[in-house]
Amino acid sequence: MTTKVVPGMLIATADAREVAVEGAGRMARVLRKALLERSRACIALSGGTTPRAAYAELARADGIDWTRVEVFFVDERAGAADSERSNYRMVRESLLTVAKVPEENVARMPAEGADLEAAAREYQARIEARVPRREDVPAFDLVVFGIGTDGHTASLFPGEPAIEITDRWVAHVPARAEHEDRLTLTVPVLEHAQNAVVLAVGAEKREALERAWLVKGDLTTTPARIVRAVQGSVVWVIDRAAGGLG
Ligand code: 6PG
Repeated sequence: MTTKVVPGMLIATADAREVAVEGAGRMARVLRKALLERSRACIALSGGTTPRAAYAELARADGIDWTRVEVFFVDERAGAADSERSNYRMVRESLLTVAKVPEENVARMPAEGADLEAAAREYQARIEARVPRREDVPAFDLVVFGIGTDGHTASLFPGEPAIEITDRWVAHVPARAEHEDRLTLTVPVLEHAQNAVVLAVGAEKREALERAWLVKGDLTTTPARIVRAVQGSVVWVIDRAAGGLG
C-alpha cells in the first residue's frame, strides 16, 4: 500500500471550467489579502495551457488593484515574446491586457535572445530588486504551479540538473528532445512561495499528481514534489478526471 498525503488543501471540481473559476477565486483571495497587508504584491505565474482560463477569470475578479501587483513568470520557453509557445503571450492575452496591468508592473522573462545564461542573470537581478525576501530567498506572495504528465513543474523536468541549484533564483534549462531551451525559477524560490495554487486538469495528470502526493518520493523523479516544501498555503485545484474520480 503506497501512502499518499496531499500537502495542503485539495479541491476536486467537476471539470476544467470549474477548475478555472475555483483556481481564480483562490488566486484573487491571496491577492486581496496581500494587498490589505502591504502596499504591493508580487506573483509568479506558470504557463502552459491549463492556467489560461483561470487567468481570464482572475482578470475579471473584483477588488484587486492591479496597479499594486507585480507580475513575474515561473518559466518561459525560448523564443519570441509573441510566439505561439510563449507563456508571456498567453498571460498577456488572458490576464495582463484584460486586467489592465501596467506595463511597468510586468517582468517578462527575456527568453528571445541567444544567451539564456545572461538572460537568467538579468531576470534574477529583476527579482532581487523587487521581490521581498524571507530567509534571504525571494518569497512571492503567490506562485501558480502547473504539473506535466511526467511530473515536472515550472521548467524543472525529471532528471534535470537545474533541480539541484540552490544558490540562484533563475536558471537556463537546455533544450532536450522533449522541449526547447527554457528559463525557469529554481527550487529555493518556488519553495519560498507564501501561497501556492496548483492547477491540474485531465486524466493524463492523475499519475503525476499521485507521485507528487506519495509520502515517499524524490524531486529528481517528480519535480512537482517541490510543492510539498512550499512554506505557505497550498491549494491543489483539479478536476475529477485528474483526481482519478472518473
Ligand atoms: C510550461 C509551464 C509548465 C506547465 C506544465 C503543465 O511552460 O509548460 O510552465 O510547467 O505548468 O507543463 O502544462 P499544461 O497546463 O499545458 O498541461
